[in-house]
Amino acid sequence: MSSKPDSNNVHSAQNLHGSIPNGAHTAVDVVLDTAYQGIDSNNWSDLFKLARKSELPEFIADMFAGKHINQSEDRPALHSALRNLSKSPVILDGQDVMPAVTDVWRRIEALCNKWVGVTDVIHIGIGGSDFGPRLAIEALAHVPDIESRGMRMHFLANIDTAELARILDRAQPNSTRVIIVSKSFTTLETTMNAKAVVAWLKDNNCTKGQIAKALFAVTANVPAAKEFGIADDHIFPFWDWVGGRYSVWSAVGLPIALQYGFKTFEEFLAGAHAMDLHFKNAPLENNLPVIMALALLYQQEKHGIKAYAAIPYADALDWFPKWLQQLDMESNGKSVGKDGKPVKYSSPVVFGSAGSNAQHSYFQLFHQGPEIIPIDFIAVRKPMSARPESLAHHRILLSNCLAQAQALAHGKTDSNPNNVYPGKRPSNLLLLPELNAFYLGALLALYENRAGTLGALWNINSFDQPGVEYGKVLAKPIEKALASGSDQVVANESVDAITAERINFLNSNS
Ligand code: F6P
Repeated sequence: MSSKPDSNNVHSAQNLHGSIPNGAHTAVDVVLDTAYQGIDSNNWSDLFKLARKSELPEFIADMFAGKHINQSEDRPALHSALRNLSKSPVILDGQDVMPAVTDVWRRIEALCNKWVGVTDVIHIGIGGSDFGPRLAIEALAHVPDIESRGMRMHFLANIDTAELARILDRAQPNSTRVIIVSKSFTTLETTMNAKAVVAWLKDNNCTKGQIAKALFAVTANVPAAKEFGIADDHIFPFWDWVGGRYSVWSAVGLPIALQYGFKTFEEFLAGAHAMDLHFKNAPLENNLPVIMALALLYQQEKHGIKAYAAIPYADALDWFPKWLQQLDMESNGKSVGKDGKPVKYSSPVVFGSAGSNAQHSYFQLFHQGPEIIPIDFIAVRKPMSARPESLAHHRILLSNCLAQAQALAHGKTDSNPNNVYPGKRPSNLLLLPELNAFYLGALLALYENRAGTLGALWNINSFDQPGVEYGKVLAKPIEKALASGSDQVVANESVDAITAERINFLNSNS
């Protein structure tokens, strides 16, 4: 961060106050410093013009107004209503959705007060029905003074039985609760894992009544959950106007409330709501999700970047990049736009992991690799632990974060080409005052709104995911062929010659 005014970033000068550095913006006490993006004031002004030309303000207004911006599925993307703690009406097709949303809040709160003697929670869900609650449970566990019920929270996503076996080895059947989370309630991994967990309860002599008491569902397909055998009052609905990867704010976030209390869940929603209000109301020039999206677009134009990284310098946020991968790549990893025509840009590959660990892994490539990979450095001002050594450790953590950004920006010359750092490698610094439920909510909503903004700039519908279906369809005949045990499978309309050979190899060795 530069303490001197940076003429390259004069566009931001008007929103600076107190100790916020030049080149930085703030919203909900989250500071975004773009000083190392290498974007000058003329570039910024062109970028904001482009945003207006791309009708970004209209997109933002339409999203919050419940217009059907997910046009391929003819639905709105109203996840913002799930955290609308003001309860102001959100009208969808002539009806206010807030009474249904608040009813679910009331039920979550009531359930929190009712749960006693629970030792284990098995949360079964995958993708958007997994990453959000898993990230929040992990992240908030690091908050030093958080109230926690201390239940063992197990997340079961993969169909691979390794995860199932590990969890069932640890959980105590008589005091376990199971939450089956699936928007569609048809996802194979989830329904099969759910059946396996029910079988485990039975095998451990749980009675029908005990099993009914243990099972809960969170879904937009209530009939399927009932059909599975979940009691009506154990089913928490959400709605088709919530994308799976945008759903942690719904009852999908139930584990957060159950483990840390309803108040903490509300704080999580409050942080996200505050970020929504900022996104909805702030001028583009001061709007954090918009600025971040435009900076990425600039780097695409300038360097043709194909990847970007998010590096949280906080162990508590280790799951954040995985959550972000689905958010960005499932939302915007598309080749055609809303008009069905090829798009110029779409989501780069997204990756990352906690710093400083990441420095000791792939940062070599950031510094000296031939590709330019923009980075979001995410840091937290306050240490996450009250241990006596935490201040000293945190200083080192922060100094590493700042040093990496500086080294990447400026590079270093040397007579030995091996020791040359080319520099001019762009990065953002995102600074949270502390990591708690409120700022976690604000951080996730910031990136959600950034994903929507990028979709609007790229002319992509960020709220469908048709590309994930084809592989699921092909898996069915392949599974059938594997189940046949035959090593004489021949290519047919659903299995090509290479895959047939692989099936035969697997079957011949089974
Ligand atoms: O296959 C991708 C996907 O549909 C994601 O979009 C979604 O988050 C995940 O599967 C789980 O879906 P569901 O919540 O319907 O089980």
